[in-house]
Amino acid sequence: MGRKRRLSWAVLVDGRSIWTRNACPKVSQYGESLRRFQGVEHRRWDPTRSKLGAALARARHTQYDLLPDEGSTCLYLGAGHGTSLSHIHDQVCGTDNQLAGRIIAVDLSPRCLRDLIHMAKIRPGLVPILGDARKFSTWGVMVSTKVDWLFQDVSQAGQAEIFIDAANRFLKPGGKGLLSLKAASERWSGEGERVVFEGVAQQLLDAGFTIEEQINLHGLEDNHCLFYITN
Ligand SMILES: C[S@@+](CC[C@H](N)C(=O)[O-])C[C@H]1O[C@@H](n2cnc3c(N)ncnc32)[C@H](O)[C@@H]1O
Repeated sequence: MGRKRRLSWAVLVDGRSIWTRNACPKVSQYGESLRRFQGVEHRRWDPTRSKLGAALARARHTQYDLLPDEGSTCLYLGAGHGTSLSHIHDQVCGTDNQLAGRIIAVDLSPRCLRDLIHMAKIRPGLVPILGDARKFSTWGVMVSTKVDWLFQDVSQAGQAEIFIDAANRFLKPGGKGLLSLKAASERWSGEGERVVFEGVAQQLLDAGFTIEEQINLHGLEDNHCLFYITN
């Protein structure tokens, strides 16, 4: 068994694997394994199925900073079927939302929304919204205060522009923003993913953000890079 250390109250690293304290005991959300540490049930965070999980595994010096605080307000654009979101919920809300957190989860796909609504029933604090990340005017009213933590994982062209607009509109001063970027989703003319990543880094700097770390997810999530910024 590996050496254990905590990244936060809910997130534990055991050797090379990452675990979150399960806010819904006995429930495995996506087939991940469950295991007790000191009598408390945890869920294994699979870094090959979650860009945030991969970033936690790969970060060199911001591993302790990437996660949102417990009880914070978060906005997640491109929540998918809720794989990463469920672990964020363990951290931000806990069982029965004892920590009074709030995670607004936006996705364009009705199929994803169906899964997110199902998850929200057993994970209070989650607010699923069917919406297009590019069109805040249709769902932005649901985000009543600025958020502490913004995460984006929408695999479609123009990811940096969508993220910059969302951060300018919704991220609190001093907030944290995480952009998961899929190189292959961008329109490119064969120049290679490194050039795409460099271009996006420059866009983020030009928009006035500080890049705290650019984390290459190669090997866990190929063609992906995660930018962790502050404003
Ligand atoms: C890679 S998946 C997300 C996986 C999820 N973040 C996770 O780690 O569990 C990308 C998601 O972005 C959604 N998406 C794509 N374009 C979008 C847009 N413009 N607005 C909102 N969601 C979008 C897709 O429907 C899809 O569910």
